Amino acid sequence: MHTIRELQDLFKLRLSEHSFPSSPTTLYDPVRYVMGIGGKRIRPALLLASYDMYADAAGPAFEASLAVEVFHNFTLLHDDIMDEADLRRNKPTVHVAYDENKAILSGDVMMIYAYQLLEKYPEQYYALSKVFSQTAREVCEGQSMDMHFESVDEVSISEYLRMIELKTSVLLAASLKMGGILGNASIEDLNHLYEFGKNLGISFQIQDDLLDTFGTEEQLGKKIGGDITQRKKTYLYIKALELLSEQEASRLRQIYTTEGLVMDATHIAEAKSLITSSHVKVHAEELKLVYQQLALSHLDAIQVTAERKTALKELADYLLNREV
Ligand code: IPE
Ligand code: IPE
Ligand code: MG
Ligand code: MG
Ligand code: MG
Repeated sequence: MHTIRELQDLFKLRLSEHSFPSSPTTLYDPVRYVMGIGGKRIRPALLLASYDMYADAAGPAFEASLAVEVFHNFTLLHDDIMDEADLRRNKPTVHVAYDENKAILSGDVMMIYAYQLLEKYPEQYYALSKVFSQTAREVCEGQSMDMHFESVDEVSISEYLRMIELKTSVLLAASLKMGGILGNASIEDLNHLYEFGKNLGISFQIQDDLLDTFGTEEQLGKKIGGDITQRKKTYLYIKALELLSEQEASRLRQIYTTEGLVMDATHIAEAKSLITSSHVKVHAEELKLVYQQLALSHLDAIQVTAERKTALKELADYLLNREV
């Protein structure tokens, strides 16, 4: 059994030893760039920890853990184009450091490369790729909803929750399930692993949304206020409208929905101040806790000793209290 730190160190070491293809450099340099600038490596850690829970080993699951991380990074390349984000992990995003076409194509090749990494497991290939393909489609569906909501005036909390479940949570859930598949977990355990990840992922995205408005660029490595600039219909925005006075709410709505309004620093500051004064932060923290508890109830239900769940428990705690 390994601690989260040991699993993360193993992933880092094996990643540093992994050689991505080199030619053509215009295709693979951006891959090496984005994979080399860090990140929390949450999805591989989840996969390695769930595998380790059953197999008492981590090494053999490395390629699968790299597959989910490469896939995740592919989504970021394309997401940063769509969100017009120029900073990630405190570095210029790929479409800024290289160019947009390269970010598109390097992203595409990363998606395929992720599948190829799963070829290391011929016996479990069908089961793994089935989970992976379903997840990949759902991530696209969620991302599509996220983009669509930018130009929709009314988005409900349940639509928002469905959107984040798809764009973010299912990949955390799939990472855990894939680790379980490699570790020969029972069907019941696989379901609990998946539900653990799904609920964890929902609170993780709510936290990401909180940090996007209330965090600091230095800690987060991303530009603060990007969600406001892009008129993202996050929980913060939707719930703030409900909490604010009619007049304040209509001003916030106006900033977000007036066609042709240029979202400059003054508008961003005004939107942020309205969101802050609504005290939606308290509600968001409560919602995070609801999903965190749901997640933990599924972790509890997994049929292994409590000791074997320590790494996953630790990771869940870290994720939800993170400031980065
Ligand atoms: C960013 O994911 C995209 C979301 C789903 C919120 P992470 O916060 O895991 O990003 P890195 O990999 O640690 O940079
Ligand atoms: C990212 O959501 C979801 C996917 C990459 C599919 P965000 O757009 O909130 O992620 P960040 O904040 O840019 O990391
Ligand atoms: Mg996005
Ligand atoms: Mg984004
Ligand atoms: Mg975000």
